[in-house]
Amino acid sequence: MRHFASDDADSYAVGTVDVARWEQFGLDGTLPFQAMWYTVPPDSSSPRDQHPEVELSVVVGGTAHVETGGRVREVAQGDCFLLESREAHVIHNRSGEPLRVFTTYWMPLDGADETAAADEGAAAAEGAPL
Ligand code: NI
Repeated sequence: MRHFASDDADSYAVGTVDVARWEQFGLDGTLPFQAMWYTVPPDSSSPRDQHPEVELSVVVGGTAHVETGGRVREVAQGDCFLLESREAHVIHNRSGEPLRVFTTYWMPLDGADETAAADEGAAAAEGAPL
């Protein structure tokens, strides 16, 4: 068993968002997905993000307001949200406490999203998912 402590993880800023990627744990070849924690400060939002990877997130602290397709939906602590491949998203924190999220992401498994495969190079240029 390995214990991954979010408080001890190395992190860096993406806009106002603090990001701790799981690449630092050396799990390449072990997990079939990438993972990270991120924290959105109170009254702040993540940069707009769009990437070929599917993204599954768990709200571990605070409340997320997830904006996709012109809609904003509330996701409570303990709940999860799934972003489809290429689905543009902004994560808002409208509360007075930090919003903490654990996220996993991976390329679509069904191979149906040929756009995703074609965009892999472009995604690399855009940077890693957030
Ligand atoms: Ni993302």
